[in-house]
Amino acid sequence: MADDEVVLATGGVTHVVRVGPTVRRPWRPFTATIQSYLGHLHEHGFDAAPLPLGVDDRGREVLSYVPGHVPLDPLPDDTTTDEVLVALVRLVRRLHDAAQSWVPPSDAVFGGIPGRSASPLEPLFDRPELVAHQDYCPGNVVFREGLPAALIDFDLARPTTRVADLVNLLHWWAPLQHPVDRAPALAEVDVAARVRVAVDAYGLTPDQRAQVVPVAVARARNSVHTMRAAAEADPVFRAWWESGTAEKVTRTRDWVTAQSPRLAATLA
Ligand SMILES: Nc1ncnc2c1ncn2[C@@H]1O[C@H](COP(=O)(O)OP(=O)(O)O)[C@@H](O)[C@H]1O
Ligand SMILES: [Mg+2]
Repeated sequence: MADDEVVLATGGVTHVVRVGPTVRRPWRPFTATIQSYLGHLHEHGFDAAPLPLGVDDRGREVLSYVPGHVPLDPLPDDTTTDEVLVALVRLVRRLHDAAQSWVPPSDAVFGGIPGRSASPLEPLFDRPELVAHQDYCPGNVVFREGLPAALIDFDLARPTTRVADLVNLLHWWAPLQHPVDRAPALAEVDVAARVRVAVDAYGLTPDQRAQVVPVAVARARNSVHTMRAAAEADPVFRAWWESGTAEKVTRTRDWVTAQSPRLAATLA
């Protein structure tokens, strides 16, 4: 590694280093597609994402470094307010509006977590509407002045719907998680009320609003299968699976399913 390289992350999924105003990440089969997508977002007024800067002389992906602070799971107390939730949802709404007009090239390649579920998955939509981020875990949101200011790590971006993408955000930030798995400041929070705050901030149509809870239930059920398959396929996911993820995804599924009538009533 050259002297001017600072390791931002390693041991997670991706080895990321910073070099001055840029970051370098491994080039993967979906990287060209994602760079084209990021270019479209910037051309259409969404600048709250890294700029795609091509490839370096060592074959790595080059992106602009996004200044700010990136929280990690569990969410620190000051990232658990309704104000933060609303700001993040508005950011994602802007992302969606810029992404709407992007038509993936015919040779587009999209990423995904490793492995293939042995059990059939429940579809989250009939037809994709746009390509969106699909991975709003805390480590992928950059804060500035206490509020979400940008999104990074588009490795799981793929064709989806506004509702399915928003449900991913809700999983992490409402959060649609069992109380024992939440950050301390969110352990006792009224999640249904937070879901309503988020959905109101997005401005879904009545039709889309009615899909939120069924999509959240299907996503939580699918996650048990997809995370198990990832653990079988990849050592990083296996380590997570064996150190709590197995129990967590099951608790999430059971909790979201049990709460679904109350969540639906709160959104109605
Ligand atoms: N473009 C960027 N600007 C600023 N920080 C970044 C950028 N890309 C990555 N990082 C930092 O590196 C961490 C890991 O990078 P990320 O792209 O999210 O990889 P992973 O696949 O491991 O989640 C992020 O949580 C963030 O702190
Ligand atoms: Mg990440």
